[in-house]
Parts: sequence; C-alpha cells; structure tokens
Amino acid sequence: MNLLVTGGAGYIGSHTVRRLLGAGHRVTVLDNLSSGHPEALPPGATLERVDLLDLEAVREVFGRVKPDGLVHFAALIEVGESMRAPARYYRNNVVGSLNLLQANAETVKAPVVFSSTAAVYGDAESTPIPEDAPKGPTSVYGETKLMTEQMLNAFERSHGVRHVKLRYFNVCGAEPGGQIGEDHPNKTHLIELALLTALGQREKMMIFGEDYPTPDGTCIRDYIHVVDLADAHVLAVQALADGGDSATYNVGLGHGFSVRQVLDAVDEVITADGLPPLTREVAPRRAGDPPSLVADSRRIKEDLGWTPHFTDLREIIRTAWEWHRQHPHGFAK
Ligand code: UFG
Repeated sequence: MNLLVTGGAGYIGSHTVRRLLGAGHRVTVLDNLSSGHPEALPPGATLERVDLLDLEAVREVFGRVKPDGLVHFAALIEVGESMRAPARYYRNNVVGSLNLLQANAETVKAPVVFSSTAAVYGDAESTPIPEDAPKGPTSVYGETKLMTEQMLNAFERSHGVRHVKLRYFNVCGAEPGGQIGEDHPNKTHLIELALLTALGQREKMMIFGEDYPTPDGTCIRDYIHVVDLADAHVLAVQALADGGDSATYNVGLGHGFSVRQVLDAVDEVITADGLPPLTREVAPRRAGDPPSLVADSRRIKEDLGWTPHFTDLREIIRTAWEWHRQHPHGFAK
C-alpha cells in the first residue's frame, strides 16, 4: 500500500516504518520533528516535515501523496507534562488528529491505524484489562487519546473511514542490532532511565512508591517489545487493506512485572557486562500512576494472529541495552 505514517520519525514510528517497508509497503512519513529523529528513518522512507496543526500543509500532502492507508502516531506522549500543559496537549493531539482526519475525509478516505494507549482505561477495576473495560483516563494525555478514538468513530459514521485502534501498554526495547531505539527529549520511562543510570548518566534509580496494593508494593505494568508492537501495526494495516471492519485491540504481553522486578532484570543484564547493580531509592508515588495495568490481548491474537516474540523481560531489556550502550546520547552526534 501507499502509506502515510504520521510521527514516523519517533520511537515506535521508526520501528514500525522499518517493518512496513519490509512488508512491501511504500511509506511517506509526516513528522514535525519536534521529538522525532530523521536519523531514525530507513533509506526507503520519504520524509515530509509538516506539522499536523497546519491543515493547509496536511491537505497539500494528501493531494500529492494520495495515500491509501494511514498510520497515525504523531502525538505528545508524557502523562506528567499533559497535566502541567493541558492546552498544548489538547491542541496538539486532538486538533492535530482532527486535521489529519479532515484532510483524509476530504480526499482519499483512507483507512487509519491509530496509536492509542492503556491510559484510556485509567484506574482499571481489575486486570487483565479487556478492550470493553470502562474508560476513565486519569490524565489529559489519556483524554486526548480517548477523544481521538471518538473522532475516529465519528469519521467512520459520517465518511465511511475504517480504522483500527491499537491500545499500547508499556512499550520498551529496541530493534536488535542497536541501530535505533528510545530517545525522548524528556526521559521518564522506567527501563530507559534505568539503562541511562547504568551508563553513569544518573546517580540512582528512584522507585516511585512502594505502598501500592501489589505483592511487592510497587506498580505493575505490562512491558511490550517495540518490534512486537510494530508487527501489530503491519497486521492491522493488512486487515484494513483486506477490507476488514473497524476494530480496537489491546497490545501487551498479558502479564505484568513490578518496578522492582524490572530493576532486578536490569541488574541481571548490566552485571553480566561487569557493571555494578543500580543504586535504588524509594521515593513518593508519582501522581496519576495506577497500581496495575496488564493487557488482555486475546482479541488481537484471535482476530489478526498476532504473536509476541519477545516474552522474556531480560531479553527485552537486553535489546534496549544494546541500543543505549552503542548510543549513550541517543541520536545526537
Ligand atoms: N517508575 C519508577 N521510577 C522511574 C520511572 C518510572 O518507579 O524513574 C515507575 C512508574 O511510577 C510506573 C512504572 O515505573 O509505576 C512505569 O513507568 P513509565 O514512566 O515507564 O511508564 P507509564 O506506565 O507511566 O506510562 C506508560 C506510557 C504512557 C502511557 C501509560 C499508560 O509511557 O505513554 O503507560 O498508562 F500513557
């Protein structure tokens, strides 16, 4: 297919672009490069440096590229920042998505694969969480993703644009080989921070809360490898190309690890390389963190035949470690 991939220069986007090219698709990346890295793009992808808030520029790209499929990643993604700067998040994520959907509806009406999040569930009543669990985002970030999901429903009703919503759990790891990986302007993710601490860029790891109602008192998350997540996008694109109906899928491994278990696994990986284990310190809870988020991912397995290949936490961390060790300062020269 002739795909337009927004946010394709970002962490998940760039891993997915590689897989889409590998599956034989043509890829145009639309990215404002506010947090993405052109260096993360493989040679086969064409980059259009465009901001989704510029509706005229987005229309121009649709007129020229005439995509027959969209994969929409571009968004601001930090939960904490979204609470401090809600207007920026609503404008960028909701209005940006609206412009994309509008330009699409006015022209090619291509089906859309959308990058959604477990944050739409908020404090889950029980885990694993199925797709039809009650929604109640606890952050502005989660609200912007839920609002975009609702816009997708409206554009299907009014313009017949089909979509697949993929709700990611905690994405981590890197393409094996260490060529590309996670490099956000602000580092907040547990595994990335732990590995940068191992590289001596930070003094110690903070554990945000050890009084949660979980077996060891720390938060539990479902850690899904970015390459397995990229594969889920390839399958979703294909399902829509084959005429499939709109659908919503959780993408996670289906079992959770606590913060302490993740740090233990990081210690195993780095000590095998002769480094000392991380220094840890317990800190207060971080606002907005639900105790436990684990995916019920049976639907995507049954419908699309998706199978995660990275199921061992140490193996997942090893791929991220490969990237960070080879690129201690990310994509910066
Ligand atoms: N944590 C620490 N210390 C750190 C960093 C994180 O203890 O230095 C803890 C957090 O409190 C949390 C867990 O590690 O309990 C995971 O935190 P991350 O920041 O790595 O990930 P989140 O679960 O907060 O966020 C992820 C995605 C979001 C998405 C969210 C859905 O990054 O985009 O899942 O809930 F919205």
